[in-house]
This record gives sequence, C-alpha cells and structure tokens, in this order.
Amino acid sequence: MSRAPKSLPTYAWEPTTDFLAAKYGLPREAIVRFDVNTSPLPPDLRDVLAGSFDPPLCEYPPSDYASLVAAAAEAYDVAPDELLPTAGADEALDLIARASLREGSVAVVATPTYAMYGIVSEQRGASIVAVPRLSADHAFGLDIEAFAEAAREAQLVWLCEPNNPTGAFEPPERIGHLLAVIESDATRDGRDAPTVAMDEAYAEFVGRTVLALRFDYPRLVVVRTLSKAHALAGVRVGFAVARPATLAPILGYRAPASVGTVSAALGAASLRRPELAAANVARIAEQRACLTKDLSGLGWRPFDSQTNFILVRFSSAAAANRAAETLLRQGLVPRTFGSDHPFADCLRLTVRSAEENDRLIEAARGIPA
Ligand SMILES: Cc1ncc(COP(=O)(O)O)c(C=O)c1O
Repeated sequence: MSRAPKSLPTYAWEPTTDFLAAKYGLPREAIVRFDVNTSPLPPDLRDVLAGSFDPPLCEYPPSDYASLVAAAAEAYDVAPDELLPTAGADEALDLIARASLREGSVAVVATPTYAMYGIVSEQRGASIVAVPRLSADHAFGLDIEAFAEAAREAQLVWLCEPNNPTGAFEPPERIGHLLAVIESDATRDGRDAPTVAMDEAYAEFVGRTVLALRFDYPRLVVVRTLSKAHALAGVRVGFAVARPATLAPILGYRAPASVGTVSAALGAASLRRPELAAANVARIAEQRACLTKDLSGLGWRPFDSQTNFILVRFSSAAAANRAAETLLRQGLVPRTFGSDHPFADCLRLTVRSAEENDRLIEAARGIPA
C-alpha cells in the first residue's frame, strides 16, 4: 500500500541581505540585521585561520572532535563524554527530536518560544502540546503547574532559558523544581520520565545554567551554541550536553563529521579564550541598557531582556507592521511575527553596535508606538 507523502512543517529562513537590499533599492552596506540575534562583530581569530589544520583539510575531522570537546568540557565544566558537538544548536535540536520522538509521540513546548522545537517535533510525526507562558505582567514566566501536567503525556519536553523571543529568564531553581515534579509524576504514573531538552542558546548573557541539574534529572539534555555570546553564528558550532547514557542515542542520529575542521578549530579557540565572549556579553549588556532607554524615550514599549535582543510591543499588529515597514525602507531589519502569532503586535530587535543602534533610534523617531 502506498501512502501519499504528508507535507511536513519546514522553517522559513529570513530573507537574505542581498534580497532586502534589492527589494528596498538600497546598497548592501545599508542593511543592518536586527532580526537574527547575532553579534555586530566576530571575535578576532585570524591566527587560527592563518595557521595549519590538524588533520589537514584533505582529511575528515576526527570522529571524537577531541580538541573541541576538551575546550568545551573545560568551558562548561562537564566531562568530555557528556558532550556532543553539532553544527550549531539547531542540529542538536533536530537530533534530540529524532532520538526521542516517533509517529504519535507527544512533545511539550512553552509558547511563545523558538519555532524550531515545534518544527523538528512535527517532522518526526509527534503532536505538540503548547502551554502558554504567563503574561507580560508575570515576565512571561513558565506556568509550572500547567507545564508539568502537560509533560505527563510527553516523550519530549522543550524548554528555552533565557527564552526567545521574550528575552525573559526562569531561574535554575524554578527549573529544578519543575524537573522534580516531572520526575515524581512519572514515578507515580509508573512510566519513563520524558527527555527534557533545555535550549541555553543565550545562557552566557545571564551567566547561569541548569547544567548541574543533569545529576538529579539524568534525562536532561542542555543545548549550547557559539552563535550568540561567542559571535560565531557563521561557524556553526553547538553542543548537546547530557549524561553519557542520555547522549548515546542522540549521537546515533548525527551525520558523520557534521562539524567541519575549520569550524571545530575556530570553536575550540573561542572556548579557550573566554575573555572574547565575556567582552562581547559586556558590550551587549551596555548597549541593551542604552537601546532600551532610548526606545522607551520614544514612547515605544520594550520588555526587560536578559539577552542580546529586545521584544517591543505596539498598540496593535497594524502598528507593529507599519513600524517594521518604515524601518525596512531604511535598511533596518526587525523580526516580525505572523498575524496568527501571539506577538503579532510586537517586533523583536537585536542589540547591535552603538552606531547601528543609533541608526535604529533615529529611524524610529516619529514612528507611532
Ligand atoms: C533559542 C535558540 N536556539 C537555537 C538557535 C539556533 O542557534 P544555532 O545558530 O547555534 O543553530 C537560535 C537562533 O536564533 C535560538 O534563538
């Protein structure tokens, strides 16, 4: 019996800088990406690029990525056998979904959150239970009770702290409490506790992590990336971090050598020079405070953020769309949300350099909030 292929959800990539320059009739250099939560400048790793690679680029990278893994083990304070290097956090998310979900499985997400959790889960044939986050008045916190209840049916639970796109942060103590409830519910119900994937893409901006909880909740998988605080989004290095027994089935789904030798070398160097990421985080925190203040000064309504992006609410979805279009015509690219999204009346703005943020503020002057 043949079955018609089911159409699977896919991720719509942001339009390219070249596309936007052509669309708005602007030179390429006039476009500034406030939409993808990257950093304004890469770290200076020219010495790594100028050196020779071991093994040379004619060979595959070593399957254990020993040097990258050693650097990450030291940086994250975990054992080497608790680390799986991946091509960015996104590959880790995909591998976790592959290892945890089957047709008919259930995955839980706290919405609004990063879209990939829903996409990679549905691609595996799982259904999604979306638990709404608390309101802005409660700093978009997790509804712990509702979330734990939903987790009782689930094989996989997705969490993101600090959360994209809210910029809000649930302290590790609260996550510890949630994991304890999930565990005790599973024991009481006589079933396996679900895998819990905690995406910590922005962890360095708050300087806190739930990694220590992996000993109490061995099915915890923490996802890290060098795309954000390390300012290496183009390099594509991330990690799944978990107890070895939890990591083993996830590793089985990775394509051989998905992280290239050049990326592994740049990633290892950045992890071994933590002062580079720390300086980027400090610069962004300073700029975030200025940008938040300047946006408020214009009458815009930015929410508090712990990350390198700021969520801003407008009076309506139409007002948010008009603001986005006015910024885009000047080459400044905000992140918008579709009309059926709970944040249809919001824009998300990446914190960039002082000069780029000033351009944004100048362009925003006079745009009604
Ligand atoms: C929460 C979150 N997770 C993962 C990613 C993707 O990270 P990477 O570039 O490491 O694939 C992003 C990128 O914006 C993100 O916001």
